[in-house]
Formats: sequence, structure tokens, C-alpha cells
Amino acid sequence: MFTVNDNYLKLPGSYLFSTIGKKVAAFKEANPDKTVISLGIGDVTRPLTSSVIKALHSAVDEMASADTFKGYSPDLGYLFLREAIRDNDYKSRGVDIDVDEIFVSDGAKSDSGNIQEIFGADNKIAVCDPVYPVYVDSNVMSGRAGIYNPETERFSDVIYMPCTKDTNFAPEIPSETPDIIYLCFPNNPTGSTIKKDELQKWVDYANKVGACIIYDAAYEAFITEDDVPHSIYECEGAKTCAIEIRSFSKNAGFTGTRLGFTVVPKELKSKDTSLNPLWARRHGTKFNGAPYIIQAAGAAIYSDEGKAEIKELIGYYQENQKVILDGLKSAGYEVSGGVNAPYIWLKTPDNVKSWDFFDTLLNEANVVGTPGSGFGPSGEGYFRLTAFGTHEATKEAIERIKRL
Ligand code: MLT
Repeated sequence: MFTVNDNYLKLPGSYLFSTIGKKVAAFKEANPDKTVISLGIGDVTRPLTSSVIKALHSAVDEMASADTFKGYSPDLGYLFLREAIRDNDYKSRGVDIDVDEIFVSDGAKSDSGNIQEIFGADNKIAVCDPVYPVYVDSNVMSGRAGIYNPETERFSDVIYMPCTKDTNFAPEIPSETPDIIYLCFPNNPTGSTIKKDELQKWVDYANKVGACIIYDAAYEAFITEDDVPHSIYECEGAKTCAIEIRSFSKNAGFTGTRLGFTVVPKELKSKDTSLNPLWARRHGTKFNGAPYIIQAAGAAIYSDEGKAEIKELIGYYQENQKVILDGLKSAGYEVSGGVNAPYIWLKTPDNVKSWDFFDTLLNEANVVGTPGSGFGPSGEGYFRLTAFGTHEATKEAIERIKRL
């Protein structure tokens, strides 16, 4: 008889955003007269920009003609897109990345969940606490995380790096040496970030102990401060210790169209084995490429017109960041994040538990956010709001929270 991958049975509860979705659906069903505003999952609300739409239309037309029709995409993604990424995301910042080091995918979530496959089963991971749940859950599924302890809300074989008010919501180098270190900056969920000299310390540390940093830079487009790096490769020596994951979701609104990429430098090695061909092998075997029309749409964001539109799009959400930050501050909330990131991290009033605050907000203000404890035990007593709503809904949500 078949058996199951019982690592899945070690996962507590359902995926955070599925749990929230179910709670909200139940509330809406019981209260059909209420208008619920969601500032929960970081899903965008603005439409795709006009150069992206134009590129989509013209790629669709290409698919309609035998002369221009495209079947499977090249393993690593179309060269036109990888060259645009190389030139605009890296060369423009003084970083030299080869097109063969860029792997186009259907999004940062898939890559951040799948990347652990190319590492040894006994590797020890270190994660921030609170953390984007995908990093931990994907390692649980592959048997790398040990056993879950419901009391501590932690897995036995995971190194947790608390990111609390005391650490300015940044991780500190752990006392136990990890093999893989997950870092996400600008950070999801706390909206905090890291300056270049601080990130350099992580790169130096990883090179010293032989660890690999998996750097999730999905929110880099929201950086406003000069000394905050957009890529880990801006740090000296990062190519021998870091993989970088990027997304088109949050900067260009591709949450529904799916596009991302991962950089695996050829110099990144475990002893003599380079990780780049391993990820290429994995990509070739398990993935047949993001659709041509989506890759063509992605390339459109790198045109002059596309760049200007993206700037405006991000500016739209940045206005929401300010509305949420200023509104909550004026209502007496302790808040952080929201300067270089589309997430605002707030302390719940009177140390109310995160899920209790979620219920209060949903029931009394009809506003949905994300409980901090859903991202890890150090998130208890915190709550995340996203700036990805519309201006109108964001303003209304903050007014409702102020009236609580
Ligand atoms: C979030 O809300 O944390 C993100 O939208 C989740 C994701 O990007 O997968």
C-alpha cells in the first residue's frame, strides 16, 4: 500500500493566508451587509500598466500566427528577458551577473519553496522569526525541520533568529552555525530593512562558515533610502555565498500573471560542486518555463515607458504606506516598517494577542490584516497591514481602525 510523505503531517494548521481566507469568507457569509476591507495578504490592486498590456496583446497575436508562434520556452527563460534583467536590475547597480546565472520562473513563491531541493537533507536552516511561512514550511515538507513543538511554536531542527523591537526587527548572527540562512529584505512581514554595511556582515559570516544565504528581494522596488541595498550582490563576496530571488508581483502587479527569477552565481559552490548547474538541472526537469506572453510582458517593464509606469505604480502604494503609518501613529499605535516596504508592522494595543486583534478588527471594523503570530512566535502581539489596497479602501480602513 502506498504511504504518504509524513513530513506533511508535521505541518501545524493550514497555510497562513488560507486560514485567513476561510475566516474572512465565513464572516462575509454571516454578515452579507458588511463591506470588508482587506489589508491582509500582500496582493496588489492596481491593474497592469499600459506597456505591459500592450506587450501582452502583441505576444498573444504572435501566438496566433504559425510564423511567430512559440512553444516551450528555453529552460532558463527567454534571452530577451534575462538580458533585460541583467542590464537593468544588476549592471545598472554595478553588479556583474551573467545571463546563465538568471533563471526565470513563475514567481518568487515557487522559487523560495523549491530552492531547498538542491541542498543536502541534513542541512540546518536559519530563519528570521517572524518569517514568511514558505521558507519553513517547504523545509518541513522535505524533512529538514525536525519536529514541531506546539508550546514553543518552533521546529526542533530550525535555528530561529528573533527579530523584535529590541533588535530593531533585524536578525542577529545566531550562536549555532547554520548551513542555509534565509534573509528577506525589505522584510516581509515586519517591513524592516537592512543597510548595506549590515548585510555585508552576513555575507562575510556566510563565507566564513560556509553557509548559503537565500536572499529574498521581492520587495526591493519599495526601497526609498540610499544606503539600503537592492541586491545582495552589491556586497563584496556575495557571489560565493548567496542566491537571490526576485519577483514581478509587487513592483509590476504580476500576482495574477506570475513571473519571477532567481540568480544562482556560478561561483557559489559547496566544496567543488557549483549550485548553478544543479538548479539548472532541477529547472530543466521540473519546469517548462513561464509562458512566452508573460515573459514578453515582463520585459516591457524595462522599457523607458515601462520604467516610468512602474515608478508611478509603486508611488501609488507608497502613498498608502504613508496613510497607514501616519494614521496609526496619530491614533496612538506603535508602528514600524512602511518606509522601504509595503508592510506596516504594528504593536497590538494592550498586548492583545495577534489573533484576538484580528478578530476584533474583522468583527468591529470589518478590516482584515495578518496576525503577527502567524509568521512565528516572535510576531505574537504584532499585526501586519499591507499597503497594496486602493487609496479609498486604505483611507477608509484606517478611519475605521481609528474609531475602534
Ligand atoms: C504576503 O502577503 O506575505 C505575500 O503576498 C505572500 C506571497 O507573496 O506569497
